[in-house]
This record gives sequence, C-alpha cells and structure tokens, in this order.
Amino acid sequence: PQVCWLTPEQTAGKQKPFMYTQGQAVLNRSFFPCFDTPSVKCTYSATVQVPEGFTAVMSATSWEKQKDNTFVFKMSEPIPSYLIALAVGDIVSADVGPRSRVWAEPCLIEAAKKEYDGVIEEFLAVGEKLFGPYVWGRYDILFMPPSFPFGGMENPCLTFVTPCLLAGDRSLADVIIHEISHSWFGNLVTNATWGEFWLNEGFTMYAQRRISTEVYGLAYTCLEAATGRALLRQHMDNTGEDHPLNKLRVVIEPGLWGVNPDDTYNETPYEKGYCFVSYLAHLVGDQSKFDAFLQAYVNRFKFQSITADDALGFFLEYFPELKEKGVDSIPGFEFDRWLNTPGWPPYLPDLSPGEQLMKPADELAELWAADSLDMEAIEAVDIMAWRTYQLVYFLDQVLQKSPLPEGNVEALSKMYPKISKAQNAELRLRWCQIILKNNLEAEYSKVKDFLHSQGKQKYTLPLYRAMWGGSESARALAMETFSATAPQLHVNVQNYIKKILGLEVAE
Ligand code: BES
Ligand code: ZN
Repeated sequence: PQVCWLTPEQTAGKQKPFMYTQGQAVLNRSFFPCFDTPSVKCTYSATVQVPEGFTAVMSATSWEKQKDNTFVFKMSEPIPSYLIALAVGDIVSADVGPRSRVWAEPCLIEAAKKEYDGVIEEFLAVGEKLFGPYVWGRYDILFMPPSFPFGGMENPCLTFVTPCLLAGDRSLADVIIHEISHSWFGNLVTNATWGEFWLNEGFTMYAQRRISTEVYGLAYTCLEAATGRALLRQHMDNTGEDHPLNKLRVVIEPGLWGVNPDDTYNETPYEKGYCFVSYLAHLVGDQSKFDAFLQAYVNRFKFQSITADDALGFFLEYFPELKEKGVDSIPGFEFDRWLNTPGWPPYLPDLSPGEQLMKPADELAELWAADSLDMEAIEAVDIMAWRTYQLVYFLDQVLQKSPLPEGNVEALSKMYPKISKAQNAELRLRWCQIILKNNLEAEYSKVKDFLHSQGKQKYTLPLYRAMWGGSESARALAMETFSATAPQLHVNVQNYIKKILGLEVAE
C-alpha cells in the first residue's frame, strides 16, 4: 500500500506516469526492509535509476544527478523510517527562497512559484527564532498529483503537499507553516510510539500557531484556531465524545482493543493536543518563558524519540515551582486525565483576540438562518473584503445552523458567487457540506466535481459521511461518485470510504 503508482490520467499534466511513497504511519515496511517504528532513527542513502524524462526526489539532505538517469541521495541526520520518502515523475523546480524551491509538474510550476515566492524564508526564520536552528539544510516543497491524501506531509528537506494549496492568494499557507513546524516537533523530537501521535501533532499545531501569530498577528491566528476547534467539535459529534480514540494516548496493540495507527488520524491528536500544549503554556503564564521552554525541549530531545511522560517530566523539571505546586494533579485538569480520558478538552485557550474577525461572520450567519431574510442587513455586510478563513468560519456557522429555512441557501448561493463558485478547496469543502446538509439536489454536481478534482482524505471522508447520512439521492450520488473515482484514490482512502458506504473491505 505504500508505493503509489499513478497513470498519466491521474497527474495534473496527464502526459506521464508518476510514483510516490507515503510512509506515515506504518506503510514504509512495504517499501523497504526496516524497523518500522518511530522509536528507531537512522541515516540513509539511496540510489534511484529512473526512465529518461523523469526526475527522482527524496527526503534527503543531499541530492545528486549522475549519468544514466541515476539519482543519489543521502540523509545525514538520523530520522525514523516513516520520514523516508521518494517521488518520481515529470517534475521541474523553481527557487522561491535562499534555501527553498518548489517542485511540480511543468504545467503547475508557474502557479507553484507564484504561490510561495519569497514567503517560505520568513516562516523558516521565525521558526528558528522561536524553536532553535533549522537542522535539515534545505526546505523544499513538492506539489503532488491531485489524489495525494493529505494536505501536507513533513518529509524532511522536502514537504509533500496537495495541489489544492495553489489557491492563487497564499490563503492556505497555514499548511506550509504546519509542515515547517514539524522540522522541530516530530522530525527532531519524535513520538516514540504512534499511541502518542499527539506529541507530534499537538506540539506542531501549537508551534504552527506561534509562527502564525508572529507573521500574521494574533487576531488572524485565533480565527484559524477557531476553525480548528469547529473541526474538533464536528469530529467529536460524529464519533461521540467518549470514543476511545478521543483521548490523547491511544492503545495500539493487535487484537480486540487495538487499532491500526493509520486509523487514529483524526482531529483529537491535533486540536485536543493543541489545547493541552496551550494549557501547559497557560500554567506557565508568560509567553516568552513558554517559548524558551519549547526551545529547551527541542534541544533536550533532538534526534530522539520520546513518550508523553518524558515530555511532561521535562516540563515539570524545567519549571520546578510548578512541580512544587502539583500542577500535574489539579482536580479536573490532571495530566493523567488529559492523556487517558476521552472527551472534550478540559481547558480551551482564549480565542477572543479573533473576535473582531469572527463576530461579523457569526452575525451574518445568524441573518442567513432567519425564517424571513433581512436583505437590507445582509446587503450591508461586504464579504468581498473578507479573508479566506473568515469565509470558512462563516460557512462553518451556516453549516452548523443547517438545514436553513426553505430557499435561504439558494439565495445565499446567488448572493455570494465568491463562495458558491469558489475555487479555493477549503471553501469548496464547506460549500459542498452545506449543499448536502440542505439537500440541494440542484447543486449536487458541485460535490461531484470537487470529489473528482482531488483525493485529500480530510475533504473526501466528511463528504461521503454526509452523503451516506442523507437522502436516497445523496446516497446514489455517493455510490456513483465512488465507482467513478475509486481507482484514482489512495488505497487507505478507498478503504475508509468503503467502510462508510458499507462495502466489503479486503484485509
Ligand atoms: N503528518 C501529517 C500527515 C499524516 C498524518 C500522514 C498521519 C499520515 C498519517 C501532516 O503533518 C499533517 O498533519 N497534515 C495536515 C495539515 C494541517 C493540520 C494544517 C493535513 O494534511 O491536513
Ligand atoms: Zn502534522
């Protein structure tokens, strides 16, 4: 399942085939023999020969093209097996910074360069200021074919990203900031087991929002974090708060109680993990002291794999006055409860600095949910000036209030082509969710087009869940779309959809 072979039709250019590997969480064992656990780290080298007209790239610190279409790679820092990655295709590159270039199929390279030219270095520099030296040499980005199942994958030196990031306005750069943040949290300090995946993702979400705060300001970052919180709410509503995967530490064992680490990929390690790290910062009470702690944490555990006990033990050691006060056992907020009890986070960071951006969106959603529309009030709000995440937040509110009274969504669609005809993937996802929740059959083709255009897991599964939980015609749309798109989806994603649709999954 690890090595994905794509036909020319499955690429953006549709001319030549493409292959890539996706190691996380436990797929690299089908790529090469290895100790496929994040607790073991090593360096690697690789020699890859490809057919004429193709280029090979890997997550490596050095890259050299030799004769006979042979590429030689070396990763000189120890990394866990899941971070070894290879891609081969008709790809070219363009510089976007002193230590960064973008890689993409020729038909996408202009757009890729335009999206990130001159901005990557600032993200890296802010990361280094906050968390210490960037040890990986280069930071390059590879734009993947549309079926790539993730927004981004933090393969060291070379992040793999979905082409959906090419929004034309840099509005989805939070994904890049997220993957850059893994350069410290995940790639340098690594979770020792997939049962504590939150150590990678929760710390990374925190680091991402620290960088975002420095670059874009607190208001915007709180708005983005509010959309993350809405995703956590949706996830817990779907699964039930008490679901065993809704704790930060999950049991990964074969057998009855065990789960496949790939199946633990959900919002909990990300957003509940973010809340826990924010809670630790709240206990410290001073941002610069907590930033210093994060830097010391990276320095203490770099190139190692650790457990949550190691991380929390170091926190208490670093702040002896907090240890003295027994902050790990405050009733209701015990560290043990954070780790081992499923459910909504006991502490939520204050996102009120984003109020100025959220409030107009909240109010507008209220207006659209009314039984009779107050068009004067609606027309007085100029959403043309809103940033993408403000629209995303607005649409999440509309979705929450859906189904809206008869006719309202149609009116909304006509009023805001910026939303209903959006090309931005985050907006398209929400618009499709609204279409389905309001059972707007006239707009089903938008859902179909979106699912045909890309295969990101976090976009695809929610839409299949919504279709399957909807009307007969929505279910038919799900079946029809799945049979048409299945061959182009990543096999994990195919299997998750089959489970949703009640189809047989081959073990
Ligand atoms: N490492 C993850 C992607 C991943 C997780 C792959 C689990 C395989 C198994 C990556 O860093 C990630 O979290 N990507 C997010 C970005 C978002 C949180 C900004 C994504 O793909 O949506
Ligand atoms: Zn991540």
